[in-house]
Amino acid sequence: MTDRPDSKDAANSMWGGRFAAGPDSIMEAINASIGFDQRLYAQDIRGSRAHAAMLAAQGIISDNDAKAIGEGLLTVLSEIEAGNFPFRTALEDIHMNVEARLKEVIGEPAGRLHTGRSRNDQVATDFRLWVRDQCDAAIQGLTALIRAALSQAEAGADWVMPGFTHLQTAQPVTWGHHMMAYVEMFGRDLSRFQDARERMNESPLGAAALAGTGYPIDRHMTAAALGFDAPMANSLDAVSDRDFALEFLSSATICAVHLSRLAEELVIWSSAQFRFVSMSDKWSTGSSIMPQKRNPDAAELIRAKIGRILGATVALFTVMKGLPLAYSKDMQEDKEQVFDAADSLMLALAAMTGMLSDLTANRDRLEAAASSGFSTATDLADWLVRELGLPFRDAHHVTGSLVGLAEGRGVDLPDLTLADMQSVHGQITQDVFNVLGVHNSVASRQSYGGTAPAQVRAQIARWKEKLA
Ligand code: ARG
Repeated sequence: MTDRPDSKDAANSMWGGRFAAGPDSIMEAINASIGFDQRLYAQDIRGSRAHAAMLAAQGIISDNDAKAIGEGLLTVLSEIEAGNFPFRTALEDIHMNVEARLKEVIGEPAGRLHTGRSRNDQVATDFRLWVRDQCDAAIQGLTALIRAALSQAEAGADWVMPGFTHLQTAQPVTWGHHMMAYVEMFGRDLSRFQDARERMNESPLGAAALAGTGYPIDRHMTAAALGFDAPMANSLDAVSDRDFALEFLSSATICAVHLSRLAEELVIWSSAQFRFVSMSDKWSTGSSIMPQKRNPDAAELIRAKIGRILGATVALFTVMKGLPLAYSKDMQEDKEQVFDAADSLMLALAAMTGMLSDLTANRDRLEAAASSGFSTATDLADWLVRELGLPFRDAHHVTGSLVGLAEGRGVDLPDLTLADMQSVHGQITQDVFNVLGVHNSVASRQSYGGTAPAQVRAQIARWKEKLA
């Protein structure tokens, strides 16, 4: 399948010294990463500028050459940003595309940039910088989402709704409490990205191909210039490590799980059967055939994004598993996965934030639903324990009989008469009706982290302070 001339001219100008012929076109296709790694151009140029400045500071190249390289790289940067940079597949990747263009722009000094450096530490540096930016974006996106959930929680700190287990009515909870559950989840996501960011913030630059270099480079200087806390301590590890990408993907996956759960609840809650929430027009779509429809497409797509994000995570773990030290070309397969997962996550975070900010909870409907389904049965059992001294198991049994009685009559617990109650347990008094109302029920759950509005408000205050 060779459709390239077998001439020395076709050999790669970056490493073609010992090659007599250029690559097969299929070799070029499988080998090239420029189609996707051009997304790393800003990081690549930033890393090269830091490297060139360090080479000059260490007397490895002249100040004049470093100046020409630094300025030339800015020219290349503006060409790429203006969209008139000639990306060439024959030059494989972003690193060689930038360097080759630099040569065209500034001539001979460009050839000195790659002193004491390899594409192996270069790509590890570029990619780390890129993923670090994505951690910052995720932290920002999550902060906005947490604020949106906090606003919902604050507005409805004492609105009652059914709390579910097995999607069966369990006990009344407050809307604020439910929203704050997501604040906790997204808060853990936020801390995972912060934590990953901190750990990944070491510089691979200067590890060179794998063994370090004989040039008197200053890795601390380039690390500082690129905002890293320190240079990585082992050159083999520096070029072969992709933990930072795996940690980013793992954090993104857990976050996507949380997003999918909230999205699922919004899909259920906005259905005609539930009507717990109304989504604004901005976040709904219509049907081309059924005029009555308001579809929660954004929520459904957020629910689905986990597929791509988890897919990327599994893919990169699979690529990295069993790779011998140090660099292997397998690792070029790291980028597209992370790019796609990061794009999906940021979009899902932004969409969820928008949707939640514009969401209207139907307070009356929530309360009506909370008041049905014998949601205060546990409160009744607790009353029997507290007031009549019954063992909880017996109280559970008595309450079960009362629920059966009410169910048989097609009514709820508060609709039974005192005589009905006493027919099941003679010592029950009128006082029991106080605990059967949903507002009393939620107000009583004052244990730390419980659903009582006072507890919910305390958690809201704690989070606001945390974010301030
Ligand atoms: N495009 C390559 C990658 O993404 C850059 C590193 C190439 N290194 C090498 N020794 N061929 O991994």
